[in-house]
Amino acid sequence: MNDKPTIASFADFRPDREKFLAEALAGLGATPKTLPSKYFYDDRGSALFDLICELPEYYVTRVETALLGSIADEVATIIGQDAAIIEYGTGSSEKIRILLTALNRPAAFVGVDISGDALLGVTDAMARHFPDMAVHGVCADFTQPLKLPTLAGSGKRVVFFPGSSLGNFDHQQAEDFLANAAKTVGPDGALLIGIDLKKDVDTLNAAYDDAQGITAQFNLNLLTRLNRECGADFDLEDFRHRAFYNAKAGRVEMHLVSLRAQTVSLGGANIAFTKGETIHTENSYKYSTSEFQDLSRRAGLMPLHVWTDADQLFSLHYLHVGSQYYMP
Ligand code: TRP
Repeated sequence: MNDKPTIASFADFRPDREKFLAEALAGLGATPKTLPSKYFYDDRGSALFDLICELPEYYVTRVETALLGSIADEVATIIGQDAAIIEYGTGSSEKIRILLTALNRPAAFVGVDISGDALLGVTDAMARHFPDMAVHGVCADFTQPLKLPTLAGSGKRVVFFPGSSLGNFDHQQAEDFLANAAKTVGPDGALLIGIDLKKDVDTLNAAYDDAQGITAQFNLNLLTRLNRECGADFDLEDFRHRAFYNAKAGRVEMHLVSLRAQTVSLGGANIAFTKGETIHTENSYKYSTSEFQDLSRRAGLMPLHVWTDADQLFSLHYLHVGSQYYMP
């Protein structure tokens, strides 16, 4: 047997327990109460999210994957050969595989994800599948600035951010994230971003509150994690998943509702809940094409292409990075 291809580098910067506890205490001490959504994705959370992606109600993954497949050759022509692709939120490998397969001799791939197991699996599979490409993994919280490995290749650098994960940031955070991604790829680089489109309320509500209750388990997993990792005493029977589209804010909101008045202990603090009080755990902003292009321009990017599916459910945006991002 020949040597089997291996990952070029794997860096582990995942947040530790103390960080999780500190961020949870800050969020639960605030009014209204919040918890950071990045903590959804431990090993169980990542597995539950994979199940969400298969749900009949959750069209996002299916529609984006099909759309990407239908435009992959066009995207590959635009990106050109010898490119380096940086993917944020490399949960499962299907989309990145479609993109890399279409590209002409991609030189390097970096997967960035907060879930170590999921990322290790994907980067390992990528290294085997694309033996001529340098594959890197960076396990980290990508809402914070992070250092990427030096990348092979003389072609474009492209950030791939699928899944409408950018929608989980508020508008200002999204603009900052795009500007940072632009700095990461530098002049003549590009961003390929998946964005969920605004649509009728019923479709949106169902997508985030499925009949089988998988999304509810995924949301409640935050409390399970706090119990296990931070010694909290949340009673999972006393909280319920709630998700709804807030049309005025243009976002789906995810909450955990306290079903009764109760006090929960966490890291030496007592956290009091009134009956019906909620922990706001996530937002998923939806954009029209022009709203997202305006946001991209505010971040200093040039929206060059946008593709949508026939039903106008989902969009993929190709944003070009101009020379103002040249950094000596
Ligand atoms: N990026 C996904 C989205 O906004 C995340 C997500 C899907 C999610 N379903 C969820 C987050 C349910 C919390 C709860 O579509």
